[in-house]
Amino acid sequence: MEIPFAESWKIKMVEPIVKSTRQERELWLRQADYNVFQLKAEQVYIDLITDSGTGAMSNRQWAALMMGDESYAGASSFFRLKETIGRLTGFDYVIPTHQGRAAENVLFSYLVHEGDIIPGNSHFDTTKGHIEGRKAVALDCTVDEARNTQLEIPFKGNVDAKKLERALAEQADRIPFIIVTITNNTAGGQPVSMQNLREVRAVADRYHKPVLFDSARFAENAYFIKLRETGYADKTIKEITREMFSLADGMTMSAKKDGIVNMGGFIATRRQDWYEGAKGFCVQYEGYLTYGGMNGRDMEALAVGLDENTEFENLETRIRQVQHLAHRLDEYGIPYQRPFGGHAIFVDAPGVLTHVPKEEFPAQTLTVELYLEAGIRGCEIGYLLADRDPITRENRFDGLDLLRLAIPRRVYTNNHMDVVAAALKNVFDRRENITRGVRIAWEAPLMRHFTVKLERL
Ligand code: F0G
Repeated sequence: MEIPFAESWKIKMVEPIVKSTRQERELWLRQADYNVFQLKAEQVYIDLITDSGTGAMSNRQWAALMMGDESYAGASSFFRLKETIGRLTGFDYVIPTHQGRAAENVLFSYLVHEGDIIPGNSHFDTTKGHIEGRKAVALDCTVDEARNTQLEIPFKGNVDAKKLERALAEQADRIPFIIVTITNNTAGGQPVSMQNLREVRAVADRYHKPVLFDSARFAENAYFIKLRETGYADKTIKEITREMFSLADGMTMSAKKDGIVNMGGFIATRRQDWYEGAKGFCVQYEGYLTYGGMNGRDMEALAVGLDENTEFENLETRIRQVQHLAHRLDEYGIPYQRPFGGHAIFVDAPGVLTHVPKEEFPAQTLTVELYLEAGIRGCEIGYLLADRDPITRENRFDGLDLLRLAIPRRVYTNNHMDVVAAALKNVFDRRENITRGVRIAWEAPLMRHFTVKLERL
C-alpha cells in the first residue's frame, strides 16, 4: 500500500487548549461586542485569527536563542542574520525592525512622498496605511481574476502587467517604485508566478523604476512556483527564492510569517541609496542599525527560521495542511477562494450565508457563527475591514466578503482542521435559518475592524 503523507517533524512540547460550552461562548462574544479581536485568547479553542507571530519554533530555533548577542552595537547575532538573508536573497544591506509594518515605516519614510503613486498587487492594510498616511496613493493592479473566488488559476496573486504599464505610461514621474506582495495575502494567500515577477521587472526597467517585494510569505510563494509553474519542479526552494529576489531591488519583511518567529522584521536591499536613505529612520524609529527593534536572541532564531523554512519538507508539511482543510470544505461543498492559498483558507461568506444581506456583513456574521459553533476564531476580511469611502462615508460593498481561516505554522494538527471543517459544515447546513447578520453600534474613524462594536440582528 502507498505510504501516506505525514508531517516532517515530531512534537516535543505541547500547550493545552480548552473547549467551552455554547452558553459560555454566547456570553463572551456578547461581552466582546461580537468582535473576535475583543475576545480573550483563553476563550478560544482553535485560533485562526492570524498566521502572524503564532508559529511554533523548532528545537534549533530555541537553541539559537541561547546564542543571542545582546550587545548594543555590532552584535554577532546581527551579522549571523545578515549573512543568512544575504545568502537567501542576494541582498547585501540589511536593516532589522521590530515587525513588518516597521520595515515599511522606515523605508517609506525615505521613499514615499505626498502625491506619489505606488502601484502593486493588493497592498496589505499596513502597507496601504503607510502609503496613504503620507498622502500618497496605493494603486491596486492585481489581476481581475482574483475577484472571482470560484475561478481556479494557479497564480491568482499576480500583478496585471497591462494595468501596471498603463499607470507608468500615464504617471511615471509620480511613481517612486513598484511593490509586489508575495504571496498576495489580501487576494487569498495567492502566489505570484516567476513569469509575472519577470514581467513586472521588465515594465519597471522600461521606466527605470525599482521594484520592492513585500515578502512576508516569500517561501510559500516559492513553494507554489515549484509545484505550479513549468520549469521549476526540479529546483530547490532556495534556488527559486534566489531567482525571485534577483528580480527585485529590495524587500520589506514581516518575519512573523515565513521567518517563523513570534516577532521581528527587516528591510533588505541591494541598493546602497535605499540603505543610506532609510538607515537614519531606523535609528529614529526602531533602534541602532545592528538591532533595529529586535533582541539579539530573536535575530538568531530568525536566521535559523529563514533557513529552515526555505527547505521543501517544512513548506510541504505546512501547505498540505492548508490543502487538507480545503479538501474537507470541497467535500462539504463550502465555497472558498480557489485554489487554496499558502497560509489560509478564505471562505466566501455570501456563498455560505446565502440569506444574510450584504448590509448586515455576511463574513462577520459567519465569523460570529463559527465561534459560537465550536470556539474557532477566524477573521473577517470583508466589508467591515474594507471600511467606508473616505469621501462619501458609505460602506464599501464592492469587494469580496471573506472569512479568513489563517493557519499558524507547525501549531495545529489535521484533527484540528477536521474540527474547523465540521463546525463550518454545521453552520452551512443551517444557513436557511440564518437570515440576519450584525449591525454596527460604534466604530472608529479608521481601521475600524479591530475595535468595532456590533449588535446581532
Ligand atoms: N505585509 C503583509 C503581506 C502582511 O500580511 C503583513 C501582516 C504585513 C505586511 C505587516 O507585518 O504584522 O509584522 O507588521 N499581516 C498579518 C496578517 C498581521 O494577519 O495577515 P507585521
